[in-house]
Amino acid sequence: MSVITTHDKIFTLQTDETLLEALERTGHQVEYQCRSGYCGLCRLKLLAGQVSYASQPLAFIGPDEILPCCCQVITDLTIDCKISHEAALSDIDLFQ
Ligand code: FES
Repeated sequence: MSVITTHDKIFTLQTDETLLEALERTGHQVEYQCRSGYCGLCRLKLLAGQVSYASQPLAFIGPDEILPCCCQVITDLTIDCKISHEAALSDIDLFQ
């Protein structure tokens, strides 16, 4: 199971959830629209680690960017993502 590190949290990716779903579950702020690799809105900067795609997404991504809605996480990841303002104010655990 891959460990995901962001600016604010460290958490484990669960079976059967996308990276986008995991980021939402843990209170992160991620833009999205299509959730299937077309729009590019969910694009995040990958700081460390490796992902792959079942099929090449249509949205443009740079060499250090990933689409959390449709990528397959291969290794532990460090990504440039922060928790949402609402989550920061709530009483959720820092490590889930
Ligand atoms: S939400 Fe559209 S590419 Fe990820």
